[in-house]
Amino acid sequence: MKFWATPYHYNLLKDQERLSAFYEAIKTKSRGVVFDLGSGSGIMSCFAAPYSDFIYSIEIHTRSAAYAAENLKGWKNIEVINSDVNGFNFTCKADVIICEMLDTALIDEEQVPVLNHALKYLNSGGVVIPAGVLNGAELVSMENPGLVYEDQAKINYRVLGSMVIYDSLLFKEKIIEEVEEDIVFHLKKSGKINALKLTTFTLLSEDLICGPTPMLNPPLFIPLDELYANKGDKVTVNLAYTMGGGLDSIQTKIKNIS
Ligand SMILES: C[S@@+](CC[C@H](N)C(=O)[O-])C[C@H]1O[C@@H](n2cnc3c(N)ncnc32)[C@H](O)[C@@H]1O
Repeated sequence: MKFWATPYHYNLLKDQERLSAFYEAIKTKSRGVVFDLGSGSGIMSCFAAPYSDFIYSIEIHTRSAAYAAENLKGWKNIEVINSDVNGFNFTCKADVIICEMLDTALIDEEQVPVLNHALKYLNSGGVVIPAGVLNGAELVSMENPGLVYEDQAKINYRVLGSMVIYDSLLFKEKIIEEVEEDIVFHLKKSGKINALKLTTFTLLSEDLICGPTPMLNPPLFIPLDELYANKGDKVTVNLAYTMGGGLDSIQTKIKNIS
């Protein structure tokens, strides 16, 4: 099957691990009326089509929406709509919402604001795919500290303690976009702390979890004020950002060490 796609969506299509995780969840959960929000090339709508009555496939980017319409034209139960989901007035309710606007800790993409808008159009008993995310943080010592995703550069770093899961979100609930957490780390190694590493795990459904893949949530490094700490120390870091607010919204502060 030939699929038209922009270079970005083509890279998303090449990520087999991402696709197979979504395919499993969609095959199991899709039914009735489906909204595919941010449908890109239309791949998720294509997965859902055999299991659903009707799919509204909504994409903001005009050329991508045109490609999706071409890719999906063989399915009579899919309508592609070129629109911003935010503020879009749906004329019916959905049994399933598929929304893959994920990124690490949901900071730099619109997953949360889009779902906060769309949730009022989800039938009671309806499902969201993915169901949610878990966000974890580690304290690290980085060779050249900077705000960078792991897939953008070769990063040399040393992890100084165990990962702390500081946030757990379910997309069926309205989510407050502002995050502010005091995260307590127990150091397992001595060293120079100068960055946080954030890792996001995607809960596709209640029994299917997917870690970072090449095109899904690459770990994000966030620089911290430099501090030398010893094995056994307890370090509290305050981390704040706005989901959907972009990387500029990130603020960090080492609050105390004991
Ligand atoms: C990560 S891509 C996923 C594309 C496709 N669903 C897939 O999984 O391959 C996210 C898509 O959401 C679209 N998007 C972002 N914000 C949007 C919005 N407010 N309304 C509609 N589409 C949006 C982007 O243009 C992009 O195509």
